[in-house]
Amino acid sequence: MVKRVGMLTGGGDCPGLNAVIRAAVRRALKYGDYEMVGLRDGWKGLSEKLTMPLTRESVSGILHRGGTILGSSRTNIFKDDAVRDKALANYKEMGLDALIAIGGEDTLGAAHKLSECGYNVIGVPKTIDNDLIGTDYTFGFDTAVSIATEAIDRLHSTAESHHRVLICEVMGRHAGWIALHSGIAGGADCVLIPEKTINMDSVCHAIKSRMDNDVNFSIIVVAEGAKFEGKEVLSSEKLDEFGHVQLGGIADQLAKKIKDQMGVDTRATVLGHIQRGGSPTAYDRFLSTRYGLAAMDAVHNGKNGVMVALSGKDIVEVPLTKVSEGIKTVDDKTQELIDIFLGY
Ligand code: F6P
Repeated sequence: MVKRVGMLTGGGDCPGLNAVIRAAVRRALKYGDYEMVGLRDGWKGLSEKLTMPLTRESVSGILHRGGTILGSSRTNIFKDDAVRDKALANYKEMGLDALIAIGGEDTLGAAHKLSECGYNVIGVPKTIDNDLIGTDYTFGFDTAVSIATEAIDRLHSTAESHHRVLICEVMGRHAGWIALHSGIAGGADCVLIPEKTINMDSVCHAIKSRMDNDVNFSIIVVAEGAKFEGKEVLSSEKLDEFGHVQLGGIADQLAKKIKDQMGVDTRATVLGHIQRGGSPTAYDRFLSTRYGLAAMDAVHNGKNGVMVALSGKDIVEVPLTKVSEGIKTVDDKTQELIDIFLGY
């Protein structure tokens, strides 16, 4: 009997989403006896029955494409009882045997709840932030780090020409993985992450130590979620359906503080959604493909309530219960890297 498998992409988009979709569909075609159906715009597709067929033809030519052919949203079906009940009823009415949910903490949190309600769900770890528990790497992270590193390289030459301090604000709501990896790869003089409240004395000291050595420019990489005195900088207080505020503006505030304290010409650059758009790197295409294949294998093997994950070189399955325990922030040992390269 033909089995029906739904697939959705939720939350912020991320390079590699299409590669996951394509791989899962290709695997299903190899197995035979599967009908793959795309749910459009994340969980909204389940609560409003917005679907599209996923066939050999519809996934052709999408491997290298950014974004998601399914569309995405931050809809939370568990925010409202009526919406939840509708989504659960639709799962049955659509005759789904399993659902592959590709997303970050919020999407996979909802996937976890759905599996606890007795529905078959498999998760795939997506986010440029790389902050999901249970996997060494999420797909999309490598692309975001590559984009940020290229931007930092470009900022270097102009900072040097004008003897300026240039600040590059990168994404990373709760975790500083993008800031840390791109900052180290781009040779930043100071990397500021959400895990550690910003210490203005050490920022200024890093800039001064370079000036004392006749290096009259500095590069600072700051994660959008980094904090002054424990407080994030918001661009909007409006909450999304999962209760998140919109972050943004830390680089501007930091630039002002450095100017005020040191009198040095300091400018801010915000990379924003450029980090999420466009084509995935080869690494992300390969990882996404492995995740898509593994997700479909998990469906075929009757698994439920697990997320496919990278552990060393292997793709493994971890319970969604574990994934929902929290956020994978930058550990103390890795944070030491920042201190070693601080300043001159
Ligand atoms: O979760 C990924 C992410 O890119 C975060 O780094 C960022 O804070 C957020 O999404 C931005 O979301 P939106 O595009 O909905 O504003």
